[in-house]
Amino acid sequence: MNAAIRAVVRTGLHHGRKVIGVQNGYDGLIDGDYRPLGARDVGSVLPHGGTMLYTRRSERFLEPRHQAAAAQKARAAGIGTLVVIGGEGSISGANALAAHGMPVMAIPASIDNDIFGTDLSIGVDTALNTIVGAVDKLRDTASAHNRAFLVETMGRNCGYLALVAGVVCGAELALVPEVPGTAGDVLAAIKGAHDRGKGNAIIIVAEGAPVGIGEIMKALEATDVGFTARVTRLGHIQRGGSPTAFDRLIASRMGVSAVEALLAGKTNTMTGLDGSAIKLVPVAQVTGKCRAPGEEFAAMIRTLAL
Ligand code: F6P
Repeated sequence: MNAAIRAVVRTGLHHGRKVIGVQNGYDGLIDGDYRPLGARDVGSVLPHGGTMLYTRRSERFLEPRHQAAAAQKARAAGIGTLVVIGGEGSISGANALAAHGMPVMAIPASIDNDIFGTDLSIGVDTALNTIVGAVDKLRDTASAHNRAFLVETMGRNCGYLALVAGVVCGAELALVPEVPGTAGDVLAAIKGAHDRGKGNAIIIVAEGAPVGIGEIMKALEATDVGFTARVTRLGHIQRGGSPTAFDRLIASRMGVSAVEALLAGKTNTMTGLDGSAIKLVPVAQVTGKCRAPGEEFAAMIRTLAL
């Protein structure tokens, strides 16, 4: 997100505009927590995860009266258009602000890759690389000890991270919220790997999978599947760390495109990635929907786990 902020600020300044940063997400918009941003304020931010403007999950902003007041306060402070960088909740908030007369531009950022209207969101690639690094290390110890590992990834409602991690980490199975799955499926996958002569097995379980890791471990303790099992929950380490080159690139491209689109008079749209091209999608078409994670990945995991 810092690369996107930097791109928005510097592209705006390049075109002679003033840029004001809103701190602490929509809470900051309600409270008028603004600060002017110059070119030097966004220096050296590219290597850093998180956001230099901080963020909040704002309960207040869900209320239309706060949305209206926030739009009014921003207008009074001379903010003519608002660039919102964030996930589905943030983009829905941007849509609400547009309805209150504040022109907006949205930039999709969420490690879940569940934002409709874009092939990829900012943060996904970095999170995936973190998962790959962790699972590669777990594979070493799994292999040394002849073990199975259950690795929990983020994804409360969307299994994209788990499915793609399943493919690129060589897992036996990935359990995700969108697809029915049971502890029995995990046992069968681990036993199958053992019986086919493998020396270890990795199972990826998304946070929102239909069966939790606790239940799977209980079933594993009661059954001989060939390997003893251990659990690793990756948790919030997936949401931090220095962004990959790819993430910095799409964030920079989206930031530049967002400002150029605003200057060309296009508002209330989101910058999406369509293949390798940046496209603009109306925010109203993006909200209230969820991008499906891609059915092909589950089958690919099974085929490649042979
Ligand atoms: O950004 C979405 C997400 O990463 C989900 O995958 C996860 O369940 C959630 O955020 C965690 O949110 P919080 O940090 O508020 O607990």
